[in-house]
Amino acid sequence: MQNNLKYDLPSKMSFSPGSVNYDNFKDTPEDYQTYMIRILAVMAYAENVGGTGIALLFNLAPDVERRYIISQIGYEEIKHARMVYRILNRLGISENTSVQIALGKTGEFNSVNNSLKPAEETYGDEENQWLDVVLNCFLMDGAGIHVIDNYAECSFQPLLEICRDIISKEEKMHVGFGQHEFAKLLDEHDDTELILERYKHWYSKSLNFFGPPDGRTAEKLSHYYIKPRTNDQLRKRHMKEIRHRLGKISHKLTDYILPLMESIESQTYPFPE
Ligand SMILES: [Fe+2]
Ligand SMILES: [Fe+2]
Repeated sequence: MQNNLKYDLPSKMSFSPGSVNYDNFKDTPEDYQTYMIRILAVMAYAENVGGTGIALLFNLAPDVERRYIISQIGYEEIKHARMVYRILNRLGISENTSVQIALGKTGEFNSVNNSLKPAEETYGDEENQWLDVVLNCFLMDGAGIHVIDNYAECSFQPLLEICRDIISKEEKMHVGFGQHEFAKLLDEHDDTELILERYKHWYSKSLNFFGPPDGRTAEKLSHYYIKPRTNDQLRKRHMKEIRHRLGKISHKLTDYILPLMESIESQTYPFPE
């Protein structure tokens, strides 16, 4: 991937997928290390919130088959969190410190762009129904896939490896489950107004998940191959893939969902949830 840089960048080092490992991490520019640690901390935090949060939703699953699958999804999210915390540990950062970094409470990391803010806790709402769990898997994990696939080509080899070998595959299964269950809900659920209202909420949230439009930081993260593709590029991929997945569902309600998506996308970040 070719970077067309509009800004002067400080580093003479060249970056490509997997070019940085534990042994030369300390040779990278200071801001490379800051960004990478922050990204790892935010990712571990989000995976952990996903895993612990989903446990609160077990009782919303309509039967033991679905309860079993979402408990497996929860287990996998905790597994992902553990993998990322292990990388952080090897960089000398404990889980506790990592959480402080993810929450922006540690001074030296405060200047990092807002796009790296931790994923919001999406599971705490007591009003949530099974429909919300399904849309969360379909749309939020759907967005997460693009972030993970981006890291699967990043310059930091340990992160590249876990994303490419394990996390990407498992996240795709989570989205597949969401898609399958959403198709079922469309057939069974008669409250179409509620479906459209919740879809709007989760789709907007999933667009916001990628962070603000590209600027100076995006350029630098792309140059460093920390995030080879920018927030806006990932957001576009997500919009396209969700349409592709909806095309496979082919239910009459998707005739209403597509214009709804277009009207949300025509607004600007942050998309109203
Ligand atoms: Fe995950
Ligand atoms: Fe997931």
